[in-house]
Amino acid sequence: MKSVYIHIPFCKEICSYCDFCKMLYHSSFVDCYLNALEKEVKDNYLGEILDTIYIGGGSPSCLSIKQLKKLFEITSLFRTSPHLEFTMEANFDSCDEEKLLLFKKNKVNRLSFGIESFEPKFLKVMKRNLSYEEVLEKIKICRKLGFDHINVDLMYGFKDQTLEDLKEDLNKVLSLSVDHISTYSLILEEHTELYMHHYKRANDDLDSKMYSLIMKDLEDNGFYHYEISNFCKEGHESKHNLTYWNNEEYYGFGLGASGYIKNRRYTNTRSLTNYLTGKRVLEIETLTLEEQMSYEMILGLRKTRGVSKKEFQRKYHLTIEEKFAIMELIKNQLLIDDGEYIFIPKEKLYVSNAILIAFVGGNVCG
Ligand SMILES: C[S@@+](CC[C@H](N)C(=O)[O-])C[C@H]1O[C@@H](n2cnc3c(N)ncnc32)[C@H](O)[C@@H]1O
Ligand code: SF4
Repeated sequence: MKSVYIHIPFCKEICSYCDFCKMLYHSSFVDCYLNALEKEVKDNYLGEILDTIYIGGGSPSCLSIKQLKKLFEITSLFRTSPHLEFTMEANFDSCDEEKLLLFKKNKVNRLSFGIESFEPKFLKVMKRNLSYEEVLEKIKICRKLGFDHINVDLMYGFKDQTLEDLKEDLNKVLSLSVDHISTYSLILEEHTELYMHHYKRANDDLDSKMYSLIMKDLEDNGFYHYEISNFCKEGHESKHNLTYWNNEEYYGFGLGASGYIKNRRYTNTRSLTNYLTGKRVLEIETLTLEEQMSYEMILGLRKTRGVSKKEFQRKYHLTIEEKFAIMELIKNQLLIDDGEYIFIPKEKLYVSNAILIAFVGGNVCG
């Protein structure tokens, strides 16, 4: 156990596409929430030394200074390694120098900002507000304060978006000189405003061209494509997210958070009332060995490097080939075996879901 995820489900505004566990910011709810969060941490954290902490949302940076101080009182309960990666998700509009300084003082050393797009017509669709100048200015402040691990999120696949529009967004994102970029093709999630308004996203053909453009453009600009949707400068992978993709254990604290501890995957309730009254866990699934191996492949193959054959055997006392009938996938060049790793070739990453599904429920069991 070496990672913690903490969920802060409050936002100042609700974006039209978002199905994350979130609600509108209300100061008194936040105060009650932080007390309940503190209790959850105290009841469950067993004192392990942590390598990564990730505070996500929602919009953690929309909390007031006083509330952020309370949040950091909670994170100070953790014992942390000298190599701690401590990420805070932040929104440009709710994050000023005072808050950034407070993050810094409390060991935050990685920031993750949602940009999504700079194009006004897509920002309008998303119900977001942001200007390139504001972003440049904020990134400058982050750098001045010594944050050298900065991620930005970029979305694509909007109705009427052209490859040129996307190229324009990529150029602007690249001009920020950040070291990590996460890219997301728009998903029309049920219960979101976009879904209810029957918004039509880009068609699959254009979507796949957009994905190829992102891969080419970011790689041409020195980014390493290390996970289906994630790119970084050398040595700037998200250690926290690698915990998930390496199928390692982690605590999940907060509303709607998920965790993986002692072969049990659990998900917390999304009901604030239940959470505040201590009825935290909604679902617990104890994984069989078969399921653990499936997860190892499904999560691990998201990494472009793939799954280490040696590591798989060390963990499960079986080789990947003994467990999974992957020869057909290799023959069809949907998987590559380079002797050390099994991975999905770059040109097939766009159809990775169709490949990963083969490992669900032991479909390709040997
Ligand atoms: C946890 S969310 C939110 C982070 C932060 N609250 C913000 O909005 O800037 C992380 C990222 O998931 C992506 N995302 C959220 N909903 C999505 C959707 N419906 N389709 C595609 N990407 C989505 C966005 O890029 C977003 O920045
Ligand atoms: S995308 Fe981010 S800011 Fe927008 S509603 Fe979702 S969590 Fe909140």
